[in-house]
Amino acid sequence: MVRFLNGEFVEDGRKAAVSPDDRGFLFGDGAYEVVAFYGGRPFGMEAHFKRFHRSLSELRIDPPDPAELKRLAPEMVRRNGMEGQDCLFYVQCTRGVAPRTHYFPDPSVPPTLYASVSEFNRPIEPGEKGVSISLFPDIRWLRCDVKSINLLPNVLARQQAREAGSEEGVFVRDGVVTEGTHSNLFAVFPDRLSTHPSNQLILSGITRATVLKICSEMGLAVEERAITRRELFDAREVFLAGTTVEIMPVVEIGGRQVDRGRPGEITGRIRRAYLETVGAV
Ligand SMILES: Cc1ncc(COP(=O)(O)O)c(C=O)c1O
Repeated sequence: MVRFLNGEFVEDGRKAAVSPDDRGFLFGDGAYEVVAFYGGRPFGMEAHFKRFHRSLSELRIDPPDPAELKRLAPEMVRRNGMEGQDCLFYVQCTRGVAPRTHYFPDPSVPPTLYASVSEFNRPIEPGEKGVSISLFPDIRWLRCDVKSINLLPNVLARQQAREAGSEEGVFVRDGVVTEGTHSNLFAVFPDRLSTHPSNQLILSGITRATVLKICSEMGLAVEERAITRRELFDAREVFLAGTTVEIMPVVEIGGRQVDRGRPGEITGRIRRAYLETVGAV
């Protein structure tokens, strides 16, 4: 696997080496993005890089030039022999290499820019059959709008979800459903869909934005309002939305069936429209 590190393409990616003094390694001091390529074509690349720029700016890390990233992503796909395939482009930027102290390093220290490409094993079966989710207290910080590489609460919740036989862990803060460990959540009610507003308590997903657009085109009303845990259990349909989960119906929450325990009709329509939009079908 060819990796990219600080301006160099490392042919044998295992040899790409980051200093132990890198702030990403010591503090998780950085941000990242993941862009899906369908049949070799990126989906939402500009939106992802815009969000990357925003995350880094919020962290006061000097962001890379978006034009450079737009060239880098397809170049990495090509160098990894993944043209024409479904794959994932990963990019991360940290505050660079400096002796360990909480203060920012000297402004002359360049950020570390790293990128890789991996196969995208699309979640086709779970997307058709639906998955179960487990709920967890949202113990994350209050800047979830920043796509930080600090993912400890997400890692712990997803592992606990797996141990409980669920596909995804979904966070609940103060009785309100926020989002999944790596996805946003939508609930379908008889007269509208609901999803958490785009604020500092969630990562505003590119997939979420795509779903909002699809719903508006389909004439489906969506309310950006946080729903309570109790309302979630009353929803007709529930689904997850994210770059790697795509649109994934939720058929069980903490062992309780959603409606009749089958993917819902609205979810199916949105999923089909999404897969068409991204060029998966
Ligand atoms: C916490 C969280 N929420 C939502 C999402 C979905 O975002 P996107 O649709 O841009 O992939 C992700 C993606 O990784 C995420 O990590």
